[in-house]
Amino acid sequence: MLTQDQLKLAVAKKALEFVPEDAIIGVGTGSTVNLFIEELAGIKGRIKGAVSSSEASTARLKAHHIPVFDLNEVEKLPVYIDGADEINHHLHMIKGGGAALTREKIVAGVADEFICIADEQKYVAMLGAFPLPIEVIPMARSYVARELVRLGGHPELRQGVTTDNGNVILDVHGLQIMKPVELEETINHIAGVVTCGLFARRRADVLVLGKQSGVEVLR
Ligand code: 5RP
Repeated sequence: MLTQDQLKLAVAKKALEFVPEDAIIGVGTGSTVNLFIEELAGIKGRIKGAVSSSEASTARLKAHHIPVFDLNEVEKLPVYIDGADEINHHLHMIKGGGAALTREKIVAGVADEFICIADEQKYVAMLGAFPLPIEVIPMARSYVARELVRLGGHPELRQGVTTDNGNVILDVHGLQIMKPVELEETINHIAGVVTCGLFARRRADVLVLGKQSGVEVLR
């Protein structure tokens, strides 16, 4: 029986197959991505560098002497490689467990292909068991929380966390997300919401899924 960490390592290794030669690639955030960065370090001569979705990943990439580019200097990212907290069969995701959702959504938006690396515990029929992270401008915290209650959720302020953009995170419990695209749109329209942790409008293109039986690639 493989542990979750072993499954994360398996998908991190497999993800190298999606790294194009001589390109700048998008790199996400989290423990699975940390393992991917270790693997990337082994082939760093094959890429030009990376655009990172968080200060934490930037520090790791730089520690391996992988050049990190400002997104504004880069016109094209062939791939963005990142983890997820949950992913459904349509490759819609919940992200933001590491509080990096806004930069993740921006970098993912630029990329031609989103390669999600995840272990099988995160592959679900319906999103919502993992509390949905929402990045919020601090002054709007209570208002946004009330609106989220109206949508049927139970928002909780993530204690002691300020995002890389200086905002707070509300984690919304108790949602059974049957229509991810619609819910993302609705939450995006609440004033004060910076980013909703639903990645449905920009879903993953490829899922590299770590299973007990081996790594599967789903599209
Ligand atoms: C960070 C994220 C991560 O991709 C997500 O939390 C998964 O992390 P991990 O690989 O540690 O399970 O969205 O904001």
